[in-house]
Amino acid sequence: MLAGKNITLGVTGGIAVYKAAQLASNLKSGGADVRVIMTRSATAFVSPLTFQTLSGNRVYTELFEPVVEWNVQHIELAAISDLLVVVPATANILGKVAAGIADDLLSTVIMATTCPVLFCPAMNVNMYQNPVVQRNLAMLKDLGYHFVGPGQGRLACGAEGPGRLVELDVIMEKIQALLSPSDLKGLKVLVTAGPTLEPIDPVRYLTNRSSGKMGYALARAAASRGASVILISGPTNLQPPLGVELKQVETAAEMFKEVMEYFPRVDIVIKAAAVADYRPREVSGQKIKKTGSKLVIECEKNPDILAELGRRKTHQTLVGFAAETSNLEENAHQKVKDKNLDLMVANDVTLPGAGFGADTNIVKLVYPGQYVLPLPVMDKLSLAHRILDEVLKLRDNRQ
Ligand code: PMT
Repeated sequence: MLAGKNITLGVTGGIAVYKAAQLASNLKSGGADVRVIMTRSATAFVSPLTFQTLSGNRVYTELFEPVVEWNVQHIELAAISDLLVVVPATANILGKVAAGIADDLLSTVIMATTCPVLFCPAMNVNMYQNPVVQRNLAMLKDLGYHFVGPGQGRLACGAEGPGRLVELDVIMEKIQALLSPSDLKGLKVLVTAGPTLEPIDPVRYLTNRSSGKMGYALARAAASRGASVILISGPTNLQPPLGVELKQVETAAEMFKEVMEYFPRVDIVIKAAAVADYRPREVSGQKIKKTGSKLVIECEKNPDILAELGRRKTHQTLVGFAAETSNLEENAHQKVKDKNLDLMVANDVTLPGAGFGADTNIVKLVYPGQYVLPLPVMDKLSLAHRILDEVLKLRDNRQ
C-alpha cells in the first residue's frame, strides 16, 4: 500500500520527535518516498541529518532557502504529496492551521496542499485540555483534517492523562487506511477471527492455535478500503483494528449467535476463525479432580456456522478458510460444495510461513467448479487485500 507513495512528514518541536524519526524509517522500509519538513523547534530536539539518513532524502527546514531545486519548494512539496503526516503535532501547529497562519515551510505546505493531512497530536495534558486547543481540534476535524490520538498515559513532563503520541503501529495503520482505495465504501463486511474456546470446567477448555492475525488483517484491510466492518472474534492478544466494530466471543455457540444476528445485514462474510468442531458434552461446575489414571471427556458437535450461512445465503458473498494438513485442494473443493461458498481460501497449515500464528500465509484460492489460484507467500495484510480484490471481482461478475 505504501510502495510508490509520496509521503511528506511534518515534524514539529516536541519530545516525541524521536518517534517521528522511527516513523520515517518505517515508512521508507514500507516502500514510500518520504520527504521531511522540520520546524525550527523540531531541529532543537533532533538534527535534520537524522531524518535525512532515515528518509534517504534531503530535509526541508526553511521557507526561503537558496534555490537548490528549480520548483518553488512549498508548492512542489504540496503538489507531489499523496499524504502529509504531522508527527508530533503540537498545540502551536494546530493553532496556526486553524487560524490560517502560514509563516514557515510546514504551515505553508499544509495550507497549499490538497492531499489528505493527518495530525498526530502530542503535548502536555493541560495544553491538550485547554479549551482553545479543543476548539482548534474540533474546527480542524470539521474541515476534514484527519487525526489519530493522542493516547493516554504518563507523559514526558511527568503528568498523567491524554497527550501522549499514539503508538507508531497505530499511526502506520491510519496512514495505510488513508492511502487505500475506497473500493469497499458502502459495503458491510463481517469477518470472524481467532479460535473458539470450549469450556471443560471453570479452569480448563478445548481450543486451537489460531492467533487471530489472519482475521484481524482482513478486518483491517476491509476497514481501510472504506467498508463498514464487524469483527466477531474469539479470544486473542491483538489490538482491534481502527474503525472496526468488535464483538468478542468465546465459544462456537456464541460465535454462531452473533454471526446469525448480523448476517442478514451484511454484503460479504469472511470466516477466518478456527471454530472448534466439538465441545465437551457437559461442563463441570467444579474443577475436575485428579482421581483416576484416565480422564475421558465426551464431546458433542458444534454447529457449523459457515454451512448454516451457506444455507441462508441470499445476496451475500461467502468466503471460507480451510485449514488442512493433507489433500488441500480436494478437501477445499469439498467444503466449497458442502458450505455453498463463493470462494475458499485454503491453507496447508503444516507449511513453514503458513497458517496458525505466523505473520505470513501461503494459500490457494479455490473457486466453485475446478478453478484454483495458488498465491505466493504473503504477509497476512497483503493477502487480506488480495482476497478482498478477488471478492470484488466476484461481486462485479455477478452483477
Ligand atoms: O489466526 P491465525 O493464527 O492468523 O491463523 C490463521 C488460520 C490458520 C486460523 C486461518 O488461515 C484459517 O485457516 N482459518 C480457518 C480454520 C478452520 O477452522 O478451518 P476448517 O477447515 O476447520 O473450517 C472451514 C471453514 O468453516 C472455516 O471458514 C471455519 O471458520 C468454518 N467453520 C468450521 C467449523 C464450524 N463449526 N463452524 C465454521 O464456521
